[in-house]
Amino acid sequence: MQLCFATHNEHKLKELRELLGATIELKGLTQIGCLQEIPENGSTLAQNALAKAAYVKNNFGINCFADDTGLEVEALDGTPGVFSARYAGEPADSIKNMELLLQNMMGVANRKARFRTVIALLLGEQPPRYFEGVVTGLITTRPAGKAGFGYDPIFIPDNYNITFAQMSPTEKNNISHRGKAVAKLATYLTQQTW
Ligand code: IMP
Repeated sequence: MQLCFATHNEHKLKELRELLGATIELKGLTQIGCLQEIPENGSTLAQNALAKAAYVKNNFGINCFADDTGLEVEALDGTPGVFSARYAGEPADSIKNMELLLQNMMGVANRKARFRTVIALLLGEQPPRYFEGVVTGLITTRPAGKAGFGYDPIFIPDNYNITFAQMSPTEKNNISHRGKAVAKLATYLTQQTW
């Protein structure tokens, strides 16, 4: 069974291949010849994930899933959310995004936030199926740690006292939003009879 994961990120692909096992031949966008960035113009994570999966299915005729993630801060009404990658404008810049978020949170007592990942799967003629993963935590007042990417240095997951950027990749994957969504997808896919 061939399946595409609509990403150019080799790290995400490797992680997924390990989870899905050998029965599924998982291909990334580069491997199917889709070299362009697929636009993400939706107003929700689910819309963006579905748009990416549908683009691949319609243009390349291959079963596909795609993910989209956002950081949702309670005191900021759930923003940056779907706009997390470009919170501080174009071109996307993680350092500027973190700086802007910390600035917007200056003096704010409620530091509660969550990362949320939505995966949209398009298989054959079936309607889209969605898988969600959430991790709740707190926004720090200053960055800490060098690992990971994005907002990792300013996010402390619940029940921890270190940021995502102070964890090993394995430790983060075991509790992360993406890890949880991917685990649900992997369970579903490995139950299918191809
Ligand atoms: P994407 O949908 O995986 O591309 O994520 C969109 C944006 O959310 C990224 O550009 C990052 O700013 C942020 N983000 C997603 N996942 C993570 C994470 O695991 N840690 C920190 N930031 C993340």
